[in-house]
Amino acid sequence: MTDLVQVSDENGVRLIRMNRADKKNALNAPMYDAMADAIERAAAHRAIRCLMIAGAPGAFCAGNDLKDFQHAARHDGGLGEPVIRFLHALAGNEKPLVAAVQGVAVGIGTTMLLHCDYVVAGTDVRLSTPFVSLGLLPEAASSLLMPRLIGHRRAFALLVMGQPLDADAAKECGLVNAMAAPAEVDELAMAAALRIAQLPPDAVALSRQLMRGSPEEVHKRIEDEAEQFRIRLRSDEARAALDAFFARKK
Ligand code: COA
Repeated sequence: MTDLVQVSDENGVRLIRMNRADKKNALNAPMYDAMADAIERAAAHRAIRCLMIAGAPGAFCAGNDLKDFQHAARHDGGLGEPVIRFLHALAGNEKPLVAAVQGVAVGIGTTMLLHCDYVVAGTDVRLSTPFVSLGLLPEAASSLLMPRLIGHRRAFALLVMGQPLDADAAKECGLVNAMAAPAEVDELAMAAALRIAQLPPDAVALSRQLMRGSPEEVHKRIEDEAEQFRIRLRSDEARAALDAFFARKK
């Protein structure tokens, strides 16, 4: 159990809130496990008709905890079981998933949006995926899903060149459905989640499943990326970039 993720159910919506604002909602192992639990367990509750994931003002999620990557890089580790479990939970989830995104969304903070069905973003949003400048590579099946959603060239600029997207650009390329003032993001996202929760659930589930197609390809890509990620974490490029992040304030 961790209080770094809060889960609450109301009116057919399960709200999963990342709650580590002092670290900009960087995700550590207990947080991944808590979010995977919340997603996986929702499957058994017919009364939960929609999931919503949210962060904190100014910080949806600063990505994987870089201390954990640094530790893995020094000890021949990989993404880690909780991360991979969370990614498979996202890929296998059959309930509609809404995201409320304010402020920074880095790394998995951006790539998890590819597994969402409806995304509300604050005007302060900045989506970025600095995997390659960290000596790493995209995860969460984003190497498959991002080009599919926004086209190869824009995906290349984001995932490989690390060019961030502001809210307008994210909306323009289809990563975001609606924009709002930061203080109104959660409310707007919850209104969408409640609307989804009031629709006939079987019709929603079937439509969503048909639109998303079989998740097998996505599960496989998660595994393929994770295998390469493990190799990249051991690289001198990654070790140097991770050390540089924590040395930046010294
Ligand atoms: N892992 C671990 N700690 C992180 C973190 C991460 N991904 N992101 C932020 N933090 C920590 C910082 O180390 C800092 O901790 P401290 O107060 O103990 O020094 C705290 O969160 C606040 O971050 P700070 O950098 O001071 O805030 P900022 O507003 O200047 O910048 C970010 C916010 C998100 C732009 C910046 O923190 C950042 O670039 N983080 C790394 C993002 C990243 O590369 N994620 C992995 C992608 S694969």
